[in-house]
Amino acid sequence: MSKRGPFIVIEGLDRSGKSTQTALLLARFEASGIPAKLLKFPDRTTAIGQMIDSYLKSTSELDDRAIHLLFSANRWELVSTIEQLLAVGTAVICDRYAFSGIAFSASKGISYEWCRAPDVGLPAPDLSLFLDISPEAAKTRGGYGEERYEKEEMQRRVGEVFRRIGKEIDGGGREDGRWVNIDAGKEKEVVEGEVWALVEPLARGVEGPLRRLWT
Ligand code: TMP
Ligand code: MG
Repeated sequence: MSKRGPFIVIEGLDRSGKSTQTALLLARFEASGIPAKLLKFPDRTTAIGQMIDSYLKSTSELDDRAIHLLFSANRWELVSTIEQLLAVGTAVICDRYAFSGIAFSASKGISYEWCRAPDVGLPAPDLSLFLDISPEAAKTRGGYGEERYEKEEMQRRVGEVFRRIGKEIDGGGREDGRWVNIDAGKEKEVVEGEVWALVEPLARGVEGPLRRLWT
């Protein structure tokens, strides 16, 4: 049976280095001659994504549950793209995914279970890497504070929910893939090396069907 592409997710607080590391990871795939595509959530280019963008820039207001469901819908509208890429053997790298959806909304006081529900059944990553950085260190990085959730106290709560998600995935068996915390306070070259060491064993493809989150 031919292998499908690996599905890799990179998560973290705002300014933890996700965009840098996902770009470096894509370059690694390209240098290895392995087809790969980088996706980013929220995908601000779609109609739903534009609503999310204006909410994050505080040019519009939305109920906390309404914006949560838009973030989730923004993933569901990309599911067929993800499935098609993986099926033809292309690696999919995602800058944020459903875990951000839960972490950010639950940190506003909505229940964890309610936040998780709309994302149940999404394609499950084979590997989720959490770029772990303290909210204090993140704050010192460029551009911090421009968008709605970039406040130290909120980021601290978000980090706590991410840790809970990681523990549940690690304890949840194969269905939800694997979750690894990476110290993102280190130099970017060091982080990049650690990311690639974890991704490389999957890079040339994965056996078996795509699994579904939390099913
Ligand atoms: P970005 O900075 O990676 O573009 O993400 C924008 C913000 O949206 C960031 O603060 C995290 C937040 N977010 C959610 O609240 N829910 C989600 O489902 C996703 C993907 C991001
Ligand atoms: Mg941001």
